[in-house]
Amino acid sequence: MSMNESTFVSFPEGFNWGAATSSYQIEGAATSGGRGPSIWDTFSADPGRIADRSTGAIACDHYNHYRSDVALMKDLGLHTYRFSIAWPRVIPEGVGAVNGEGLDFYDRLVDELLEANITPMPTLYHWDLPQALEDKNGWVSRDTAHAFGDYTEVVVSRLGDRVNTWATLNEPFVSANHGYVTGEHAPGRTSMLDGMAASHHLMLAHGFAMERIRSIVTNANAGIVLNFTPTEVASNDPADIEAERHVDNLENRWYIDPLAGNGYPSETAEYYQWDQSEVLDGDLAVISAPIDFLGVNYYTRSVVSSDGNELPDGAPVNTMGWELHPPSLGRLLRWLHSTYDFPSYTITENGCPMPDDVRSTTGQILDDDRLGFVRDHLIEVHAAIEDGVPVSGYMVWSLFDNFEWAWGYGPTFGIVEIDWETLERRLKKSADWYSSAIAANGFARPETPTTYKPWVSFEQNW
Ligand code: FCB
Repeated sequence: MSMNESTFVSFPEGFNWGAATSSYQIEGAATSGGRGPSIWDTFSADPGRIADRSTGAIACDHYNHYRSDVALMKDLGLHTYRFSIAWPRVIPEGVGAVNGEGLDFYDRLVDELLEANITPMPTLYHWDLPQALEDKNGWVSRDTAHAFGDYTEVVVSRLGDRVNTWATLNEPFVSANHGYVTGEHAPGRTSMLDGMAASHHLMLAHGFAMERIRSIVTNANAGIVLNFTPTEVASNDPADIEAERHVDNLENRWYIDPLAGNGYPSETAEYYQWDQSEVLDGDLAVISAPIDFLGVNYYTRSVVSSDGNELPDGAPVNTMGWELHPPSLGRLLRWLHSTYDFPSYTITENGCPMPDDVRSTTGQILDDDRLGFVRDHLIEVHAAIEDGVPVSGYMVWSLFDNFEWAWGYGPTFGIVEIDWETLERRLKKSADWYSSAIAANGFARPETPTTYKPWVSFEQNW
């Protein structure tokens, strides 16, 4: 190997470099353009639910800034922009009347992206369920899965002549678990069995959406986005081993197993006394119909003991307290490929909130730690590709600082800073680095590993 090959991390030709966002986190314009209320409008209006009592009502106001935002993406050189479509903007009541103005917005956004030579990658559901459907029992009701199929048809019929890459759901685990089991996300309900019913209806909704996408878009490139938290067991204690298996089943295998045709992990279903009565004949076949790609969201790993999750001593963490552990991404990709063998994988989210408290004399945020995080994870992706895992792209989370759900505006994930007074967008150092990596289809391998500077995590004060 020449010096050049060993010091330059070079990605395969056609590697897809992108950035991701989601509707409720950036769009704002919550009551404009005929949009109906979502569960996140209701939830964030409830004092005590969001750390800083903020909402996504204005957020980055991307709804009104989309043109200049696409120009910025073009300047960065992004190949793909992963965004989500707000169901309540398209069908305000969840079912029935379509809001033409809402569809027009996504139509204009898609045209603007194509004009800039950026591939649109819409996700049909990134957690902003129409409130009207939650009022009818939300994802605990099977009707919501059917409604999602109909909504998919409306959106894909309008955009499918120009968009062939589609993701159905973002992280059904978080929708079901945080929304219906722990209550930390909208709609804020707390029942394990409701969560299990919700998880099945979400997966069914994915299957219905795949059917509609395939029937409308002949060359569709369609899949689902799952989040993974690779687990490790804290000790050889049998209680720890059992705890690790449950966490792994619930967080990782619960979604990918039915997707791969293996059904829900039965041991864990039995443990929580879920009788699977919601799973009707034929459902598992709908859920496991082939996908073209699996979207992989990766942020952190989990070291599990029977007392819960343990943070290894001295482990670096982000401002939300999540351990920074790049090797787990490589391990995850190899595990996915050897266990499930999907045709292709895209990293649909990876990124981290950092303090962002160092600026250059011109005011640019010098986020070397975020830059290092992204680079370290890309090195893992590169190594997995070299080992034969078909990873076709990487989308950094996130393009912008945004409304980070129950954490509000505290954690900043963006490679682009938003000035919350003026809504001005400013590139952080990591954005400049990412842009040059895209241009070179790779980057110089650092001589020394990234050292993340120590700092104190935010207090969760709600
Ligand atoms: C993921 C979500 C995304 C963002 C990141 C930090 O779970 O998909 O919207 O909040 O976490």
